This record gives sequence, structure tokens and C-alpha cells, in this order.
Amino acid sequence: MYRLGQKEIDEVGRVINARRMFRVGDPKDGHLQECVRFEKEWAKTIGVKRSLLLSGGGTAALMAGLAGMGIGPGDEVIVPGYTFMATAAAALMVGAIPVIAEINETMTLDPRDVARKIGPRTRAIIPVHICGIPADMKKLTALARRRGIKVLEDCCQADGGSFKGRRLGSWGDAGAFSFNDYKIMSAGEGGALATDDDEIYERASIYSDSGAAFRAYAGKFTMPIFIGFQFRATEIEGAILRMQLQRLGGILADLRRIRARFVSALEGKPGIRFAPSNDPKGDCGVVAAFQFACEAEARAFAGAGGVGGWLPIDSGKHVYSNWDPVLKHRAGHHPGMNPYLMPRNRKLRLKYAPDMCPRTLDILKRTVFVSLNPDWKAAQVRARIEACRKAAASL
Ligand SMILES: Cc1ncc(COP(=O)(O)O)c(C=O)c1O
Repeated sequence: MYRLGQKEIDEVGRVINARRMFRVGDPKDGHLQECVRFEKEWAKTIGVKRSLLLSGGGTAALMAGLAGMGIGPGDEVIVPGYTFMATAAAALMVGAIPVIAEINETMTLDPRDVARKIGPRTRAIIPVHICGIPADMKKLTALARRRGIKVLEDCCQADGGSFKGRRLGSWGDAGAFSFNDYKIMSAGEGGALATDDDEIYERASIYSDSGAAFRAYAGKFTMPIFIGFQFRATEIEGAILRMQLQRLGGILADLRRIRARFVSALEGKPGIRFAPSNDPKGDCGVVAAFQFACEAEARAFAGAGGVGGWLPIDSGKHVYSNWDPVLKHRAGHHPGMNPYLMPRNRKLRLKYAPDMCPRTLDILKRTVFVSLNPDWKAAQVRARIEACRKAAASL
């Protein structure tokens, strides 16, 4: 639902005219520093010291975040059962084992189930702010601190959102963002890591640049340089995202205004119950989330004329029971690189079952999302609200 226009076209033109598309370069030589400038602006927006722009998307940002925390074989990482599979895949890509936990009715990671599932080998949890809905970062960070484990926020669907007045991505030890084509800000693909922690930043930087050993700034790293991936962003991505960032406040304000209109017009009306929210003000407003007593009611509401609703249970790749490569232990391109077969992971919790998070499946079946569009006119918002009111009243 990002907005895009002439500003992005002009900035891409500037980069092309400068003939400097590689992110590393000297400003004295006409290099525009678009990636570096975006990283500074993004870190400031999120309210942390450092950010790292990556070409490999939110997946790369999650991987770099976990790698930055030093997580690998022998470690378990708790992820919610409702998220894109990439959240769990990122744990596997660094050699760790994802442990799947329940969500609660807020649609985000249930702190009580996380507390139950933290084991002796758990090193991190990844709360996911799915559909821009903030997870309970107070409870989750307090729990993690008590148990001595790290928190990596998956903010891939919540660029710019907040919880209790602080931006998502600044609550945990690090936050991972996506700028793919379905997000609030986009460069088609891309992602970013944000963190206050110098060590996480440094290890993530080395992990994300296969040429790190040969950079002019290599001497500034405090740790020995190891072999990394190639997740470097291009100057074109940096330039587009700097303009996208200028649009962020406007999109969020419009989405939040529309969501607030839904709530004020419909709350308390017959048949209507909104999903409870950890922080309605911080919610990005990507969806209006309704909950019902059973799946049949949810389906009747979603399919009623003019509602345009959808059930999260139908979103396929976001429901853990559909994560076949995870459930069937197909990770790594080579058996030796498959974390499920690694000797250091032998004693970890490797067993999954499609019904292992029954509460998550139940909630996903009786929730309806209505996706909101920041560019809806007032009459379109009114028509949607009226359709929801009518559909709920006739259940
Ligand atoms: C919750 C969540 N996590 C991670 C990702 C991965 O992001 P990307 O596709 O940019 O790698 C996505 C992308 O859709 C996502 O929605």
C-alpha cells in the first residue's frame, strides 16, 4: 500500500546521472551516499543508533539480526505460529531451530505461551508485528530480560509503527524491516536492520557484505572479519527509500485515521467485536480486525456484500501449519547445512505437528481482516463501514 511518484523517479535519475550505483564510494568523487543517508535517517526515525540497509529484504534483516546476536547451531529461537514463514526460516538460515508459539487474540505472540516455551537452549524470541499490529513489547521484553534472552522484532509488516509511544524496532535488541512490494514503504525489494547495540550492528554488517574484509573501513571493525553474504543494497534502493521515508508519516496518518473511523463508527454495534489491541494508537492501521464466535460467522461476515474481508487462516504462507519445509525439516541446500541434522541441534525441540498451536488456528479461523487503503475517499470509507455494520447485524 506504499505510495510512489515523481519524487522517486527524480532521485533514481540523480543516482543514474551520477553513475554511482554501488553503495560504497567517496563523496569527494561525486558519490551520493544514498544508502548511508537512508540508514542515518531510518535509525533516527526508529529512535536507535544504527541501521543497515540490505538488498536481501526483511529475510536478510532477520538473518543479519540473529547473526548479529551470535545465534547459531545449538540455539532455539521462539517465533509465532502466525507470521510469514521467513521469520522461522531466518532462524534456520543461521543454523538455529525455530520453536513455534501461540498467538493470542491481539494476533501477535502470546507472552504467556512464550514463558511456557522458553527452554534451557532458547536464545531469542522474535515477536512479529503482523499486519502492522504491535505485539506486547512491554511484556515480551520484560520476560526476555528476566530469562536472559534476546529479542529481535520482526517489523516487516509494520514500517513506522509504534508501541506505547516508541517505534517498533526500538523495543527489542534489534528490529528487522521489509521494503518489498507489499509493505508500507517499498523499493520493490529490500530490508533494514535497526539496533542500538554496536556489537549486533558490527557482526550484522560483516555478515551482510562478502567484501567486508576489503573495505577501506575494515580496520574500524573491533572483531575479526568472517565470511559473509552479499546483502549490500544499491544506491538506487537508498535513493527510493529516502523518498519513501518522506511519505511514511502521511501514509500512517491516513491509515490510522481510517482505522479509527471504523472503530468509532462500529464499536458496540450488534455482532461487532474488534480484536483486542496492545496499542490502538501505535497500530499502523493496515487492517481493521474483527473477531467472531466461530468460523461460520467469520466467513458469513467476510463474504457479505461490500465488506471485502478475509480470514487470516486462508492466507496460506502466514500460517505455521502450511510451512511444509519447516514442518518436514527441509532446510539448507545440502544435508550438512540442514540445522535439523546438525549434531549441535540434536537435543533441541525438533518435532512439529500441524495441530501443535490449536489456539492460533482457532483465532485465525474466527478473525476477519478488512484491509484498509490510505487513499480511500471519505465516501468509500463510509460505504465499507456501512457494509460491515449491515453484515454484522444480520449474523
Ligand atoms: C512478517 C514478515 N517477516 C518477514 C518477511 C520477509 O521479508 P522479505 O520478503 O522482504 O524478505 C515478510 C515479508 O513479507 C513478512 O511479512
